Amino acid sequence: MNQYHTGNKIIDETKQGEALVLEQMHGGKKLYIESYGCQMNFADSEVVASILGENGFQTTRNLEEADLVLLNTCSIRDKAEQTVRKRLKAFHQVKNARPEMKIGVLGCMAERVKDKLLDEEKLVDLVVGPDAYRDLPNLIEEVESGQKAVNVILSKEETYADVNPVRLGHNKVTAFVSITRGCDNMCTFCVVPFTRGRERSRDPQTIVDECLGLYNNGYREVTLLGQNVDSYLWYGGGLKKDFDKASEVARASAVYFADLLKMVAEAVPNMRIRFSTSNPQDMHDDVLYAIADYPNICNYIHLPVQSGSSKILKTMNRGHTREEYFDLISRIHKIIPDCALSHDMIIGFPGETEEDHQDTLSLMDHVKYNYGFMFKYSERPNTFAARKLEDNVPDEIKTRRLTEVINKQGGHSLVRNQSRIGMVEEVLIEGNSKRSDEHWSGRNTQNTMVVFPKSGDENPGDFVRVKIEDCTSATLLGTLQS
Ligand code: SAH
Ligand code: F3S
Repeated sequence: MNQYHTGNKIIDETKQGEALVLEQMHGGKKLYIESYGCQMNFADSEVVASILGENGFQTTRNLEEADLVLLNTCSIRDKAEQTVRKRLKAFHQVKNARPEMKIGVLGCMAERVKDKLLDEEKLVDLVVGPDAYRDLPNLIEEVESGQKAVNVILSKEETYADVNPVRLGHNKVTAFVSITRGCDNMCTFCVVPFTRGRERSRDPQTIVDECLGLYNNGYREVTLLGQNVDSYLWYGGGLKKDFDKASEVARASAVYFADLLKMVAEAVPNMRIRFSTSNPQDMHDDVLYAIADYPNICNYIHLPVQSGSSKILKTMNRGHTREEYFDLISRIHKIIPDCALSHDMIIGFPGETEEDHQDTLSLMDHVKYNYGFMFKYSERPNTFAARKLEDNVPDEIKTRRLTEVINKQGGHSLVRNQSRIGMVEEVLIEGNSKRSDEHWSGRNTQNTMVVFPKSGDENPGDFVRVKIEDCTSATLLGTLQS
């Protein structure tokens, strides 16, 4: 048995989000992992740490002492890839001084840039795609014998259902649990279907068991993860697109996302449940009723829209119009009073006119999201948009529109937070606030960060009641209620 000591620190704020340095200690071989990009990548790094942990590796926070350095990469925008390249070059410098150190690239960049990284630039020894992590021990052996090793094969079945992730997150209170892999939606701007393959769902019993295990280890919140969680469909294994070919018995006993949510909510009634990401075209009312019916499913939906213009939504292949999105928003508010919403928005997609941009701003005014993630369009190789559409919005216009969208969101976030002043919120304490050890920080059910002074009797993992007295656009500030 290996013994793990885990922890992490934030090393870099990228436009992609936070990059985490994951660490474990042990007496044998030492592994250093950094993750970039989406939550799924962070969850995958925990799977990798588990697989390698079984094979004698433990992680370290200290790059200098690592035998193996792995970078879990993101391809979603060009900037994400540039960040990873910079990091790889820095690792290479360390390797120059210590040639026995091996460097590997995991995740979404693996397939796209394997030849370049391995052969042309000779930056890495090992390239492993998101479905090939079980092969890591063999690949590392190849590398140790002096060869370069690659496996970027995408799978029809792999969900790592039986791997018990080594938790590397920044607290012992909240955790991610993967429920689907890949995506079949083929949004025309998006590289994910190419880098992560076709969509498949994980056995629901293994999801429930993982959540129970987390609860028993003191965790009090799980986020069920998938590129498109609403599309979850378990019928005994296999690709979503092959569902129609399954036996009648398998189809009749299929488990959909709302069923899964209820299974998890009932299995861990004292644990908060969140999920990400929802796709408007696949979100159905049964999911909304599940949220409304179960107090432990949080009143919060991350519901990317990408644009407020029906014309742009159509060229993005999002599968819904502006009006259909509004209809979904009003059903959400009707079924789940007090449900918070966040979004992703792409600014400057090919063909976006000033009128389309105004549609985006007016959609935001209509919804008044609690917060959002806003990005300039970045053309990605192989996507439909890259092949067929001209990236024709000049960068300075993208920048101006992005600023307008960000400013609008800032105003809405502030108004949403101000509306909580005077309320008493249930907060799950995650840890010290970033600014002061005298304050706790945690989230309310709507996923808004709440900061309040410690009283001395409470601990991370406790649910407490906090009276909201003030706010910024990002944070609610309050005091503990007895
Ligand atoms: N369904 C996924 C979406 C992954 S990509 C999920 O789980 O979050 C995350 C966000 O990145 C997308 O919602 C989109 O807003 C943005 N994005 C994707 N491709 C992009 C591109 N080519 N340029 C700019 N932003 C992009
Ligand atoms: Fe990408 Fe659209 Fe899937 S944004 S991950 S193709 S839902």
